[in-house]
Amino acid sequence: MIYKRLAVSPISGAMGAEIGGVDLANLDDETFAEVKQAFRDHLVIMFRDQNMTPEQLLAFGRRFGDLDIAPFVKGMDDYPAIIEVVKTARDEVNFGGAWHSDFSFKREPPLGSILYAREVPAVGGDTMFSNLHLAYETLSSGMKDMLDGLTAIHSPRRSYSAKAIASRSRAAMTIEADETSESTWEHPFIRVHADTGRRCLFINDIYTIGVKGWSEAESRPLLKFLGAHAVKPEFTCRLRWRKDSVAFWDNRCVLHNALNDYSGHRRHMQRVTVVGEVPLGVSDMAVA
Ligand code: SIN
Repeated sequence: MIYKRLAVSPISGAMGAEIGGVDLANLDDETFAEVKQAFRDHLVIMFRDQNMTPEQLLAFGRRFGDLDIAPFVKGMDDYPAIIEVVKTARDEVNFGGAWHSDFSFKREPPLGSILYAREVPAVGGDTMFSNLHLAYETLSSGMKDMLDGLTAIHSPRRSYSAKAIASRSRAAMTIEADETSESTWEHPFIRVHADTGRRCLFINDIYTIGVKGWSEAESRPLLKFLGAHAVKPEFTCRLRWRKDSVAFWDNRCVLHNALNDYSGHRRHMQRVTVVGEVPLGVSDMAVA
């Protein structure tokens, strides 16, 4: 892809690009069209040295769709669609510190998430990403055929049950269980991307808890294998944050993992999620 307005530098062979030449607070339509194309081409895009008010951050998100109100995690008082992802110098546990896609337990998991770095440690606190298209494409044809017919069960319970929340105190974030903490939702294992038609594996270690119609003893080894396969180093990229960096990832086909290697230091990010759609599987496409 030739970009006229953006300087696009890929981060790894698998995914991710750093984008120069953009002021996200003042984005004209032509530049935004290229940002959208870069998002489609690279799945996670990062911008440096951005200076955005909460209103401008929300306005950038709204260019991709309606904004989600995060379940369980309280947003900013004046801007409920922004959650503040904070780990203080005293906290031991970070938010998002395992491979996952955001809120995959929802009927319509987010299209994507935007993260704006307000305060970062001098070193550490990077975020890893993995490309689930590559994870799908590198499976054997036998495994792909089996997964095409399977449905995964997703649930918030491992992170957002009252017990799970109590076991991971994060002083600066308000996270509360509710009546949906133990709910489950079903999604296809193999998702067809709504914009590109490309297939990807759609499971993650935190929220995918089982295989529909399989016992726990049967589900566990399959999910363990797929969870490890999905994040092979050759499918990943790693974003190193600086203050005022902004990243936007495609939550439909990407996993991420916030690294917790900066104990004794503070990290503060603002996150906005864009509403997504019901994930469609291969058989849904055949019917459509
Ligand atoms: C998350 O959205 O899961 C947190 C990512 C991060 O803080 O790097």
